[in-house]
Amino acid sequence: MLEKLQMAPPDPILGLTEAFRNDPRPHKINLSVGVYQDAQGDTPVLGVVKEAEQRLLATETDKSYLSINGLPEYGRHVRELLFGADHEILGARRSVTAQTPGGTGALRVAADFIRQKLQCQRIWVSRPTWVNHTSIFEAAGLRVDTYPYLDAAGTGLDFDALLAALQAIPAGDAVCFHASCHNPTGIDPTLEQWCQIAEVLRDRQILPLVDFAYQGFADGVAEDRAGLLQLAGICPELLICSSFSKNFGLYGERVGALTLVARAEEPAQIGLSHLKVCIRTNYSNPPKHGGAIVETILSDPELHARWLVDVQAMRDRIAGMRQLFVDTLRNHGVTRDFSFITRQHGMFSFCGITPEQVDMLRNDHGIYIVRNGRINVAGMTPANMDRLCESIRAVL
Ligand code: LMR
Repeated sequence: MLEKLQMAPPDPILGLTEAFRNDPRPHKINLSVGVYQDAQGDTPVLGVVKEAEQRLLATETDKSYLSINGLPEYGRHVRELLFGADHEILGARRSVTAQTPGGTGALRVAADFIRQKLQCQRIWVSRPTWVNHTSIFEAAGLRVDTYPYLDAAGTGLDFDALLAALQAIPAGDAVCFHASCHNPTGIDPTLEQWCQIAEVLRDRQILPLVDFAYQGFADGVAEDRAGLLQLAGICPELLICSSFSKNFGLYGERVGALTLVARAEEPAQIGLSHLKVCIRTNYSNPPKHGGAIVETILSDPELHARWLVDVQAMRDRIAGMRQLFVDTLRNHGVTRDFSFITRQHGMFSFCGITPEQVDMLRNDHGIYIVRNGRINVAGMTPANMDRLCESIRAVL
């Protein structure tokens, strides 16, 4: 049977990392996959993560399976991170959380849940969105349609078109949003816009599925929940997929969470019972180590405070690279206005580079970016900036 198979295409993001590794050119630059690099181009393990691991090594007594929904206290810490410890959703016990293998695992469980348990047929994603969203949702059997997001200039949000599209979505469909640091554009709605979005979703009985992979990378860990809080304050039910790959630097440990918010405690518990069925028939129960690291850090006030400082350092470095990128492009004689890049959030920017220019950057200059023109700003360093900007000038 295997003889009938043709080679599958490489993954549009992770496939580039493989190609980058195999590229022998010494000055190659990888701005494809969303992995943070420091000013030296390294992705170090955070000090608080090392500290948490040492504590776990000293205290761990078994390697048993976790519960289907993960470590006992993990969910509470995730919900406090999402909503703040005093939020009504926590007090009313109307949310539940499952520890998942990364944000991708959370998205797949959410997709299985809404397709199999809620009998939802379709999900809407922004145009553009993270390329893997469509693949995950389709793999779960959902039909995927798109709503407009980027404006004609490619530098801002087309909010009127977005809202008009939401108003035409039938009740019972789901819509995927990015809580902050929209991937790939770096463009987020304002608070007022989140409020209008939430009112349409509530009035039309559309289920929001919120992908929250970059909490802390826009304005701060607490500040970045503002859009989610608008949604949660207006929509009675929602699903939130957290990733701790970026903000804890735990990429390879695969640690994330799926949180379900319901109108009250009982439907939340019923929802959890069904989430557990989706998990058990997929990967059975989550891996332990990454979740234990996150739980250890979030439950210890001193480690928690040090982690917030680490996230701030990553956020500040990326903001610095945004400014340096815009300045260096100008210094290299690029006349097109790229100042919008300093107003975007998170790791990524859309620079309006065409797929053909992306190919030239890779083939002629050893610079790897995703073919839709998404650039990982977190891969820029003072040392690679001149070569990067000169190469972009050449292909423009
Ligand atoms: C990205 O968008 O580059 C990251 O979320 C990594 C991935 O899995 O694609």
